[in-house]
Amino acid sequence: MGGEPAKWVSMVTARTPTNIAVIKYWGKRDETLILPINDSISVTLDPNHLCTTTTVSCSPSFDQDRMWLNGKEISLQGGRFQSCLREIRARAQDVEDEKKGIKIKKEDWQNLHLHIASYNNFPTAAGLASSAAGLACLVFSLAKLMNLKEDNSQLSAIARQGSGSACRSLYGGFVKWVMGKEDNGSDSLAVQLADEKHWDELVIIIAVVSARQKETSSTSGMRDTVETSALIQHRAKEVVPKRIIQMEDAIQKRDFPSFARLACTDSNQFHAVCLDTYPPIFYMNDTSHRIISCVEKWNRAEGTPQVAYTFDAGPNAVMIARNRKTAALLLQRLLYNFPPQSDTDLDSYIIGDKSILEDAGIKDMKDVEGLAPPPEIKDNIPTQKSKGDVSYFICTRPGGGPVVLADETQALLDPLTGLPK
Ligand code: ADE
Repeated sequence: MGGEPAKWVSMVTARTPTNIAVIKYWGKRDETLILPINDSISVTLDPNHLCTTTTVSCSPSFDQDRMWLNGKEISLQGGRFQSCLREIRARAQDVEDEKKGIKIKKEDWQNLHLHIASYNNFPTAAGLASSAAGLACLVFSLAKLMNLKEDNSQLSAIARQGSGSACRSLYGGFVKWVMGKEDNGSDSLAVQLADEKHWDELVIIIAVVSARQKETSSTSGMRDTVETSALIQHRAKEVVPKRIIQMEDAIQKRDFPSFARLACTDSNQFHAVCLDTYPPIFYMNDTSHRIISCVEKWNRAEGTPQVAYTFDAGPNAVMIARNRKTAALLLQRLLYNFPPQSDTDLDSYIIGDKSILEDAGIKDMKDVEGLAPPPEIKDNIPTQKSKGDVSYFICTRPGGGPVVLADETQALLDPLTGLPK
C-alpha cells in the first residue's frame, strides 16, 4: 500500500488497588517465575485511598517501548517488566475500532511499540507495596489494550511474574494466592475468596512509620531466608497450610477474633523467620513494636480482639479494626501514643477516610492534646510518647478490584501524541 503510516494512538487507562497479606508470602521455590513456597491470603485496600492508575498506549508512530512512573521516565529493561510484556504480547488478539481507524491484527503486536504512564496515589517510597498495585495495573491495562481473552485469575499468573504479591491485586475483597504445583507456574494464581461487600464493617488504619535506614529488599531477604532459616521450612510445610484453611473459614464466617488471631500470629511468625535468617533481617523498628504493644494491651483488656495488626517487609503497621466504632477508639489510642510533630496539621496527619476522625470526636490539635490515657494503661508506667515516629496515618477499608477508566480526561498520556500530559 505504501504512503504515510496511520497516525492513530490506541489507549486504555485502568486503576488497580494495592493489597495487604494477612497470611504472608515469604520464600520462593522458583526465582524467575516467582513461585512461592506457600499459599497466602490478602485483603484488597480501597483504591480511593491507595491505588495505581496506568495508561497504556500503542501507535505505529512509536519507535520504542517507553514508561513513565510518577512523571519520570524509567527503564523497561528489567526482567520483570519484560516477562509481563512478553506474556501479554503472546496472548494478544485482533483489535478493531472503526471510528478511530484502528485495525490491529494479533501478529502486529510483536512489532507495535508501547507507551506506558503510571501514577501511584501514595508515596512510592513509603513501603506500601506499590509494586503490587503497579504490576497488576500494568498487566490489567495491557490485557484490555490488546483484547486478551484471559480472565483475571489467568492474568494474575502473568502479574505474578512481575511482582509476586501483584497477583493478589487482580481482585477486590479477600484473595488467595494459590502456590500451585506445576513447574511452569501455570497453576500459581489468585482466586477471590469473597468480594469487598462480604465483610464491609472492617476499617483499616495504616501507620506510615518513619524508616531511618533502607530496608533489605524483599527479593534478597526471601532468598537469604530460604537458604539459611530452618524455621521457614516448618512455617511453609506445617504452619501455613493449617492457617490458610482457618483463615478462609474466619473470612467466610466473618469471625473477627479468629481472623485477628491468625493475622497477628502470622505476621509475628514472618518476622520471626526474618530473625531466624542469617544474617538476621529486621523489618520492624521500635515504633512498630510499640504499636504492637498498644494493640495487644487493648485487646487483652477487652477480653476479645478489637484490632488485628500485620507488618510487611518494613516498619509500617497495618491495623484492621472490627468496625467503625473500634476504629475510632483505635485512632484515639494511636493519636495519644503517637501525636504529630507540633508543626504538622491534623489534616495531613490523618489521610484517607477522615470520617473515622469525626467518629473519634477529634476536630483539631487541641482535641489530640486533650486525649486522656486509655484505661488499659492506667496502672502502668506512662508509655513513652515521642512525636514524629509516625509520619502519617491512612484510614481506609477493604476495596474493589481493577477497573477500566473510560473517561479520557483521566488518561495520563495525551491521546494525540501518546506522551505524558
Ligand atoms: N513500582 C512502583 N510503582 C509502580 C508502578 N506504578 N508501576 C510499575 N512499577 C512500579
